[in-house]
Amino acid sequence: MNHATNYHYHVTFRVIEAGTFSLMKALVFDGPNRLRLEDKSKPVITLNTDAIVRITTTTICGTDLLILKGEIPTVSKGRILGHEGVGVIDEIGSEVFGFQVGDKVVISLITSCGKCDYCKKGMYSHCENGGWLLGNCIDGTQAEYVRIPFADTGLYHLPDDIDEEAAVMLSCVLPTGLECGTLNGQVKPGDRVAIVGAGPVGLAALLTAQLYSPAEIIMIDLDDSRLEAARSFGDIQTVNSSNGKVVEQVMLLTNDLGVNVAIEAVGLPATFDICQAIIAPGGHIANIGVHDKPVKLHLEKLWDSNITITTGLVDAETTNMLLRLVESGRLDAKKLVTHRFKLTEIIQAYNTFWNAAKEHAIKVIITN
Ligand SMILES: NC(=O)c1ccc[n+]([C@@H]2O[C@H](COP(=O)([O-])OP(=O)(O)OC[C@H]3O[C@@H](n4cnc5c(N)ncnc54)[C@H](O)[C@@H]3O)[C@@H](O)[C@H]2O)c1
Ligand SMILES: [Zn+2]
Ligand SMILES: [Zn+2]
Repeated sequence: MNHATNYHYHVTFRVIEAGTFSLMKALVFDGPNRLRLEDKSKPVITLNTDAIVRITTTTICGTDLLILKGEIPTVSKGRILGHEGVGVIDEIGSEVFGFQVGDKVVISLITSCGKCDYCKKGMYSHCENGGWLLGNCIDGTQAEYVRIPFADTGLYHLPDDIDEEAAVMLSCVLPTGLECGTLNGQVKPGDRVAIVGAGPVGLAALLTAQLYSPAEIIMIDLDDSRLEAARSFGDIQTVNSSNGKVVEQVMLLTNDLGVNVAIEAVGLPATFDICQAIIAPGGHIANIGVHDKPVKLHLEKLWDSNITITTGLVDAETTNMLLRLVESGRLDAKKLVTHRFKLTEIIQAYNTFWNAAKEHAIKVIITN
Protein backbone atom coordinates (compact mmCIF):
# COMPACT_ATOMS: atom_id res chain seq x y z
CA MET A 1 0.00 0.00 0.00
CA ASN A 2 1.53 3.30 -0.97
CA HIS A 3 0.36 6.48 0.62
CA ALA A 4 2.73 8.89 -1.07
CA THR A 5 1.19 12.22 -1.86
CA ASN A 6 4.18 13.78 -3.59
CA TYR A 7 3.60 14.13 -7.29
CA HIS A 8 6.70 13.14 -9.22
CA TYR A 9 5.83 14.32 -12.67
CA HIS A 10 4.69 17.55 -14.15
CA VAL A 11 1.19 18.70 -13.31
CA THR A 12 0.11 22.30 -13.36
CA PHE A 13 -1.11 23.81 -10.13
CA ARG A 14 -4.19 25.98 -10.21
CA VAL A 15 -4.21 29.20 -8.27
CA ILE A 16 -7.09 29.19 -5.80
CA GLU A 17 -8.61 32.58 -5.20
CA ALA A 18 -9.26 33.57 -1.62
CA GLY A 19 -12.85 33.99 -0.48
CA THR A 20 -14.35 31.35 -2.78
CA PHE A 21 -14.80 28.61 -0.15
CA SER A 22 -18.28 27.37 0.57
CA LEU A 23 -19.39 24.81 3.16
CA MET A 24 -20.69 21.26 2.86
CA LYS A 25 -21.75 18.46 5.23
CA ALA A 26 -19.12 15.77 5.80
CA LEU A 27 -18.53 12.79 8.10
CA VAL A 28 -15.27 13.33 9.99
CA PHE A 29 -13.08 10.87 11.94
CA ASP A 30 -12.46 12.43 15.35
CA GLY A 31 -10.10 9.79 16.78
CA PRO A 32 -10.89 6.19 17.83
CA ASN A 33 -14.62 5.52 18.33
CA ARG A 34 -15.54 9.15 17.54
CA LEU A 35 -17.27 10.44 14.42
CA ARG A 36 -18.80 13.86 13.73
CA LEU A 37 -21.04 15.17 10.97
CA GLU A 38 -19.52 18.59 10.36
CA ASP A 39 -19.60 21.60 8.10
CA LYS A 40 -16.36 21.49 6.11
CA SER A 41 -15.04 23.58 3.24
CA LYS A 42 -16.20 22.30 -0.12
CA PRO A 43 -13.13 20.86 -1.90
CA VAL A 44 -11.56 22.79 -4.75
CA ILE A 45 -9.49 21.76 -7.76
CA THR A 46 -5.89 21.62 -6.52
CA LEU A 47 -4.20 20.03 -9.52
CA ASN A 48 -5.44 20.32 -13.07
CA THR A 49 -5.86 16.52 -13.22
CA ASP A 50 -8.50 16.70 -10.42
CA ALA A 51 -12.28 16.60 -10.60
CA ILE A 52 -14.78 17.64 -7.95
CA VAL A 53 -17.67 15.17 -7.71
CA ARG A 54 -21.01 15.94 -6.06
CA ILE A 55 -21.81 12.71 -4.21
CA THR A 56 -25.31 11.32 -4.72
CA THR A 57 -24.77 7.83 -3.20
CA THR A 58 -22.11 6.52 -0.85
CA THR A 59 -21.75 3.61 1.58
CA ILE A 60 -19.69 2.36 4.53
CA CYS A 61 -16.98 -0.32 4.20
CA GLY A 62 -15.73 -2.84 6.80
CA THR A 63 -12.44 -0.93 6.46
CA ASP A 64 -14.17 2.25 7.72
CA LEU A 65 -15.03 0.31 10.89
CA LEU A 66 -11.34 -0.60 11.28
CA ILE A 67 -10.52 3.12 10.95
CA LEU A 68 -13.16 3.93 13.56
CA LYS A 69 -11.58 1.37 15.92
CA GLY A 70 -8.26 3.23 15.46
CA GLU A 71 -6.62 0.28 13.67
CA ILE A 72 -5.50 2.15 10.54
CA PRO A 73 -2.74 4.55 11.61
CA THR A 74 -2.56 6.46 8.31
CA VAL A 75 -5.97 8.04 9.02
CA SER A 76 -5.55 11.23 11.02
CA LYS A 77 -8.08 13.08 13.15
CA GLY A 78 -10.21 15.42 11.06
CA ARG A 79 -10.17 13.20 7.94
CA ILE A 80 -13.42 12.94 5.96
CA LEU A 81 -14.05 9.18 5.66
CA GLY A 82 -15.32 7.07 2.76
CA HIS A 83 -13.79 5.53 -0.37
CA GLU A 84 -16.97 4.45 -2.15
CA GLY A 85 -19.29 6.70 -4.12
CA VAL A 86 -21.39 7.57 -7.11
CA GLY A 87 -22.03 11.14 -8.14
CA VAL A 88 -22.06 13.87 -10.74
CA ILE A 89 -19.03 15.86 -11.88
CA ASP A 90 -19.30 19.38 -10.52
CA GLU A 91 -15.97 20.79 -11.69
CA ILE A 92 -12.98 19.52 -13.68
CA GLY A 93 -9.37 20.56 -13.98
CA SER A 94 -8.02 21.66 -17.35
CA GLU A 95 -6.01 18.41 -17.76
CA VAL A 96 -8.99 16.04 -17.35
CA PHE A 97 -9.89 14.82 -20.82
CA GLY A 98 -12.33 11.90 -20.42
CA PHE A 99 -15.07 13.64 -18.44
CA GLN A 100 -17.22 16.75 -18.46
CA VAL A 101 -19.17 18.69 -15.87
CA GLY A 102 -22.55 16.96 -15.41
CA ASP A 103 -21.29 13.42 -16.20
CA LYS A 104 -22.56 10.64 -13.91
CA VAL A 105 -19.63 8.67 -12.47
CA VAL A 106 -18.56 5.83 -10.21
CA ILE A 107 -15.56 6.64 -8.01
CA SER A 108 -12.83 4.02 -7.65
CA LEU A 109 -11.32 3.62 -4.19
CA ILE A 110 -7.88 3.51 -5.85
CA THR A 111 -6.17 6.67 -7.05
CA SER A 112 -3.67 6.02 -9.84
CA CYS A 113 -1.52 8.31 -11.94
CA GLY A 114 -1.32 5.78 -14.81
CA LYS A 115 2.31 6.78 -15.41
CA CYS A 116 4.54 5.38 -12.66
CA ASP A 117 6.25 1.95 -12.78
CA TYR A 118 3.57 0.28 -10.63
CA CYS A 119 0.73 1.71 -12.73
CA LYS A 120 2.48 0.47 -15.87
CA LYS A 121 2.51 -3.04 -14.33
CA GLY A 122 -1.22 -2.77 -13.51
CA MET A 123 -0.50 -2.59 -9.77
CA TYR A 124 -2.53 0.57 -9.31
CA SER A 125 -2.92 0.10 -5.55
CA HIS A 126 0.84 0.68 -5.29
CA CYS A 127 0.83 3.79 -7.52
CA GLU A 128 3.73 6.02 -6.45
CA ASN A 129 1.42 9.03 -6.63
CA GLY A 130 -1.75 7.39 -5.40
CA GLY A 131 -2.96 4.05 -4.03
CA TRP A 132 -5.71 3.90 -1.43
CA LEU A 133 -5.84 7.60 -0.55
CA LEU A 134 -9.58 8.41 -0.38
CA GLY A 135 -10.91 8.49 3.17
CA ASN A 136 -7.42 7.49 4.31
CA CYS A 137 -4.69 9.99 3.40
CA ILE A 138 -6.99 12.51 1.68
CA ASP A 139 -10.62 13.47 2.32
CA GLY A 140 -13.15 10.89 1.17
CA THR A 141 -16.63 10.36 -0.19
CA GLN A 142 -18.89 10.46 2.89
CA ALA A 143 -19.62 14.12 2.18
CA GLU A 144 -21.57 16.31 -0.23
CA TYR A 145 -18.49 16.76 -2.45
CA VAL A 146 -15.13 15.06 -2.90
CA ARG A 147 -11.93 15.93 -4.78
CA ILE A 148 -10.78 13.06 -7.01
CA PRO A 149 -7.11 13.24 -8.03
CA PHE A 150 -6.21 11.84 -11.49
CA ALA A 151 -9.89 11.91 -12.41
CA ASP A 152 -9.28 10.31 -15.81
CA THR A 153 -8.14 7.05 -14.15
CA GLY A 154 -10.09 7.26 -10.86
CA LEU A 155 -13.57 7.70 -12.33
CA TYR A 156 -15.81 5.56 -14.55
CA HIS A 157 -18.73 6.76 -16.67
CA LEU A 158 -21.99 5.48 -15.23
CA PRO A 159 -24.66 4.65 -17.83
CA ASP A 160 -28.13 6.01 -16.95
CA ASP A 161 -29.68 2.53 -16.86
CA ILE A 162 -27.51 1.28 -13.96
CA ASP A 163 -29.09 1.63 -10.53
CA GLU A 164 -26.94 3.84 -8.27
CA GLU A 165 -27.21 1.44 -5.32
CA ALA A 166 -25.77 -1.34 -7.49
CA ALA A 167 -23.19 1.01 -8.99
CA VAL A 168 -21.73 2.06 -5.63
CA MET A 169 -20.71 -1.60 -5.11
CA LEU A 170 -18.25 -1.04 -7.97
CA SER A 171 -16.16 1.41 -5.93
CA CYS A 172 -14.71 -1.19 -3.55
CA VAL A 173 -16.50 -4.43 -2.64
CA LEU A 174 -17.00 -5.96 -6.09
CA PRO A 175 -13.46 -5.35 -7.43
CA THR A 176 -12.04 -6.44 -4.04
CA GLY A 177 -14.03 -9.68 -3.96
CA LEU A 178 -13.16 -10.40 -7.57
CA GLU A 179 -9.47 -9.42 -7.68
CA CYS A 180 -8.22 -10.33 -4.19
CA GLY A 181 -10.58 -13.28 -3.74
CA THR A 182 -11.82 -14.98 -6.90
CA LEU A 183 -8.98 -14.10 -9.31
CA ASN A 184 -6.06 -14.36 -6.86
CA GLY A 185 -7.57 -17.64 -5.64
CA GLN A 186 -7.83 -18.80 -9.28
CA VAL A 187 -11.37 -20.16 -8.88
CA LYS A 188 -11.98 -22.65 -11.70
CA PRO A 189 -14.98 -24.64 -12.95
CA GLY A 190 -15.63 -27.57 -10.62
CA ASP A 191 -13.61 -26.16 -7.69
CA ARG A 192 -14.60 -26.47 -4.06
CA VAL A 193 -14.43 -22.95 -2.64
CA ALA A 194 -14.69 -21.77 0.97
CA ILE A 195 -15.08 -18.11 1.86
CA VAL A 196 -14.41 -17.15 5.47
CA GLY A 197 -16.39 -14.00 6.31
CA ALA A 198 -19.83 -13.33 4.84
CA GLY A 199 -19.62 -9.56 5.13
CA PRO A 200 -20.04 -7.40 2.01
CA VAL A 201 -16.54 -8.28 0.78
CA GLY A 202 -16.97 -12.02 1.37
CA LEU A 203 -20.36 -11.88 -0.35
CA ALA A 204 -18.78 -9.98 -3.26
CA ALA A 205 -16.21 -12.79 -3.48
CA LEU A 206 -19.14 -15.23 -3.54
CA LEU A 207 -20.98 -13.33 -6.31
CA THR A 208 -17.86 -13.12 -8.47
CA ALA A 209 -16.72 -16.71 -7.75
CA GLN A 210 -20.08 -17.86 -9.14
CA LEU A 211 -19.06 -16.38 -12.52
CA TYR A 212 -16.42 -19.16 -12.74
CA SER A 213 -18.78 -22.14 -12.05
CA PRO A 214 -17.26 -23.72 -8.96
CA ALA A 215 -18.90 -27.03 -7.98
CA GLU A 216 -19.33 -26.04 -4.34
CA ILE A 217 -19.20 -22.83 -2.31
CA ILE A 218 -19.05 -22.94 1.49
CA MET A 219 -19.56 -19.68 3.37
CA ILE A 220 -18.24 -19.44 6.94
CA ASP A 221 -19.21 -16.77 9.48
CA LEU A 222 -20.24 -16.30 13.11
CA ASP A 223 -23.41 -14.45 12.18
CA ASP A 224 -26.42 -16.55 11.13
CA SER A 225 -28.15 -13.63 9.42
CA ARG A 226 -25.16 -13.12 7.10
CA LEU A 227 -25.07 -16.85 6.38
CA GLU A 228 -28.77 -16.69 5.59
CA ALA A 229 -28.07 -13.81 3.19
CA ALA A 230 -25.34 -15.94 1.58
CA ARG A 231 -27.79 -18.81 1.02
CA SER A 232 -30.10 -16.44 -0.87
CA PHE A 233 -27.33 -16.10 -3.51
CA GLY A 234 -27.71 -19.65 -4.82
CA ASP A 235 -26.87 -23.21 -3.89
CA ILE A 236 -24.50 -22.28 -1.06
CA GLN A 237 -23.41 -24.39 1.95
CA THR A 238 -22.96 -22.44 5.17
CA VAL A 239 -21.07 -23.13 8.38
CA ASN A 240 -21.37 -21.11 11.57
CA SER A 241 -17.85 -21.23 13.04
CA SER A 242 -18.81 -20.11 16.56
CA ASN A 243 -18.86 -23.72 17.88
CA GLY A 244 -15.15 -24.25 17.18
CA LYS A 245 -15.87 -27.20 14.86
CA VAL A 246 -15.60 -25.39 11.54
CA VAL A 247 -12.68 -27.45 10.20
CA GLU A 248 -14.46 -30.76 10.90
CA GLN A 249 -17.64 -29.41 9.29
CA VAL A 250 -15.85 -28.28 6.13
CA MET A 251 -14.09 -31.65 5.89
CA LEU A 252 -17.45 -33.38 6.24
CA LEU A 253 -18.91 -31.25 3.44
CA THR A 254 -15.94 -32.00 1.16
CA ASN A 255 -15.59 -35.77 1.78
CA ASP A 256 -12.38 -35.08 3.74
CA LEU A 257 -10.77 -33.49 0.67
CA GLY A 258 -10.69 -29.86 1.84
CA VAL A 259 -11.18 -26.95 -0.54
CA ASN A 260 -9.29 -25.93 -3.68
CA VAL A 261 -9.70 -22.24 -2.86
CA ALA A 262 -9.98 -20.68 0.60
CA ILE A 263 -10.76 -16.97 0.59
CA GLU A 264 -10.10 -15.05 3.81
CA ALA A 265 -12.46 -12.05 4.07
CA VAL A 266 -12.30 -11.10 7.76
CA GLY A 267 -8.73 -10.09 8.73
CA LEU A 268 -8.10 -12.10 11.92
CA PRO A 269 -5.49 -14.76 12.82
CA ALA A 270 -8.38 -17.18 13.64
CA THR A 271 -9.95 -16.85 10.19
CA PHE A 272 -6.63 -17.19 8.34
CA ASP A 273 -6.01 -20.32 10.47
CA ILE A 274 -9.30 -21.79 9.22
CA CYS A 275 -8.07 -21.29 5.63
CA GLN A 276 -4.78 -23.06 6.43
CA ALA A 277 -6.63 -25.98 8.02
CA ILE A 278 -9.11 -26.62 5.17
CA ILE A 279 -6.94 -26.08 2.09
CA ALA A 280 -6.45 -29.12 -0.15
CA PRO A 281 -3.07 -29.97 -1.73
CA GLY A 282 -2.45 -27.70 -4.72
CA GLY A 283 -4.95 -25.19 -3.35
CA HIS A 284 -4.93 -21.40 -3.19
CA ILE A 285 -5.42 -19.32 -0.05
CA ALA A 286 -6.43 -15.82 -1.14
CA ASN A 287 -6.24 -13.29 1.67
CA ILE A 288 -8.49 -10.24 1.42
CA GLY A 289 -8.84 -9.19 5.07
CA VAL A 290 -6.90 -6.24 6.45
CA HIS A 291 -4.80 -7.67 9.30
CA ASP A 292 -3.35 -5.67 12.16
CA LYS A 293 -1.87 -8.65 14.03
CA PRO A 294 0.72 -11.27 12.96
CA VAL A 295 -0.61 -14.63 11.79
CA LYS A 296 1.20 -17.95 12.29
CA LEU A 297 2.09 -19.71 9.04
CA HIS A 298 1.68 -23.47 9.59
CA LEU A 299 4.53 -24.70 7.41
CA GLU A 300 4.87 -27.75 9.66
CA LYS A 301 1.63 -28.92 8.01
CA LEU A 302 1.70 -27.14 4.67
CA TRP A 303 5.35 -27.47 3.53
CA ASP A 304 4.51 -30.39 1.21
CA SER A 305 1.03 -29.27 0.12
CA ASN A 306 1.90 -27.26 -3.01
CA ILE A 307 -0.31 -24.43 -1.86
CA THR A 308 -0.20 -20.82 -3.00
CA ILE A 309 -0.93 -17.93 -0.66
CA THR A 310 -1.80 -14.55 -2.16
CA THR A 311 -2.22 -11.16 -0.54
CA GLY A 312 -3.03 -7.77 -1.94
CA LEU A 313 -4.82 -4.48 -1.83
CA VAL A 314 -7.40 -4.24 -4.59
CA ASP A 315 -6.08 -2.61 -7.81
CA ALA A 316 -9.61 -1.94 -9.12
CA GLU A 317 -8.43 -2.90 -12.61
CA THR A 318 -11.61 -4.96 -13.14
CA THR A 319 -14.08 -2.12 -12.47
CA ASN A 320 -15.00 -1.60 -16.11
CA MET A 321 -15.64 -5.30 -16.66
CA LEU A 322 -17.75 -5.48 -13.49
CA LEU A 323 -19.71 -2.43 -14.64
CA ARG A 324 -20.64 -4.28 -17.84
CA LEU A 325 -21.73 -7.34 -15.82
CA VAL A 326 -23.92 -5.18 -13.55
CA GLU A 327 -25.36 -3.38 -16.58
CA SER A 328 -26.20 -6.65 -18.35
CA GLY A 329 -27.86 -8.09 -15.23
CA ARG A 330 -25.25 -10.91 -14.90
CA LEU A 331 -24.21 -9.58 -11.49
CA ASP A 332 -26.96 -8.62 -9.07
CA ALA A 333 -24.96 -6.21 -6.92
CA LYS A 334 -28.06 -4.61 -5.41
CA LYS A 335 -28.67 -7.80 -3.45
CA LEU A 336 -25.99 -6.61 -1.02
CA VAL A 337 -28.04 -3.56 0.02
CA THR A 338 -30.07 -3.89 3.22
CA HIS A 339 -30.44 -0.38 4.70
CA ARG A 340 -30.87 3.17 3.42
CA PHE A 341 -30.11 6.52 5.09
CA LYS A 342 -29.76 10.21 4.20
CA LEU A 343 -26.34 11.87 4.58
CA THR A 344 -27.75 13.77 7.59
CA GLU A 345 -28.40 10.34 9.21
CA ILE A 346 -24.91 8.95 8.55
CA ILE A 347 -24.04 8.50 12.24
CA GLN A 348 -27.14 6.28 12.52
CA ALA A 349 -25.95 4.43 9.40
CA TYR A 350 -22.57 3.77 11.12
CA ASN A 351 -24.41 2.51 14.23
CA THR A 352 -26.43 0.12 12.08
CA PHE A 353 -23.34 -1.16 10.21
CA TRP A 354 -21.34 -1.41 13.47
CA ASN A 355 -24.14 -3.62 14.89
CA ALA A 356 -24.49 -5.52 11.60
CA ALA A 357 -25.34 -8.86 13.23
CA LYS A 358 -28.12 -7.40 15.39
CA GLU A 359 -29.41 -5.13 12.61
CA HIS A 360 -29.15 -7.78 9.83
CA ALA A 361 -27.12 -5.26 7.85
CA ILE A 362 -24.91 -5.97 4.83
CA LYS A 363 -24.46 -2.76 2.83
CA VAL A 364 -25.94 0.49 4.11
CA ILE A 365 -26.65 3.06 1.43
CA ILE A 366 -26.32 6.79 2.14
CA THR A 367 -27.87 9.20 -0.32
CA ASN A 368 -27.68 12.91 -0.70
N1 LIG B 1 -7.54 -6.24 0.53
C1 LIG B 1 -8.32 -5.23 0.17
O1 LIG B 1 -8.07 -4.56 -0.83
C2 LIG B 1 -9.57 -4.94 0.95
C3 LIG B 1 -10.53 -4.05 0.42
C4 LIG B 1 -11.71 -3.84 1.14
C5 LIG B 1 -11.91 -4.49 2.35
N2 LIG B 1 -10.93 -5.31 2.85
C6 LIG B 1 -11.09 -6.02 4.13
O2 LIG B 1 -11.93 -7.15 3.92
C7 LIG B 1 -12.46 -7.56 5.18
C8 LIG B 1 -13.95 -7.78 5.05
O3 LIG B 1 -14.62 -6.55 4.77
P1 LIG B 1 -16.18 -6.41 5.01
O4 LIG B 1 -16.57 -5.04 4.58
O5 LIG B 1 -16.92 -7.56 4.45
O6 LIG B 1 -16.18 -6.48 6.63
P2 LIG B 1 -17.30 -6.83 7.69
O7 LIG B 1 -16.74 -6.47 9.01
O8 LIG B 1 -18.62 -6.25 7.30
O9 LIG B 1 -17.46 -8.42 7.58
C9 LIG B 1 -16.64 -9.33 8.23
C10 LIG B 1 -17.43 -10.61 8.50
O10 LIG B 1 -16.57 -11.50 9.20
C11 LIG B 1 -17.32 -12.15 10.21
N3 LIG B 1 -16.39 -12.62 11.26
C12 LIG B 1 -15.78 -11.88 12.22
N4 LIG B 1 -15.02 -12.66 12.98
C13 LIG B 1 -15.14 -13.92 12.49
C14 LIG B 1 -14.59 -15.19 12.87
N5 LIG B 1 -13.76 -15.30 13.92
N6 LIG B 1 -14.95 -16.26 12.15
C15 LIG B 1 -15.80 -16.16 11.08
N7 LIG B 1 -16.34 -15.00 10.68
C16 LIG B 1 -16.01 -13.89 11.38
C17 LIG B 1 -18.31 -11.12 10.70
O11 LIG B 1 -19.42 -11.69 11.33
C18 LIG B 1 -18.67 -10.41 9.38
O12 LIG B 1 -19.80 -10.97 8.77
C19 LIG B 1 -12.07 -6.47 6.17
O13 LIG B 1 -10.89 -6.87 6.85
C20 LIG B 1 -11.77 -5.29 5.27
O14 LIG B 1 -10.93 -4.36 5.88
C21 LIG B 1 -9.78 -5.54 2.17
ZN1 LIG C 1 -13.88 -0.64 1.00
ZN1 LIG D 1 0.96 5.53 -10.70
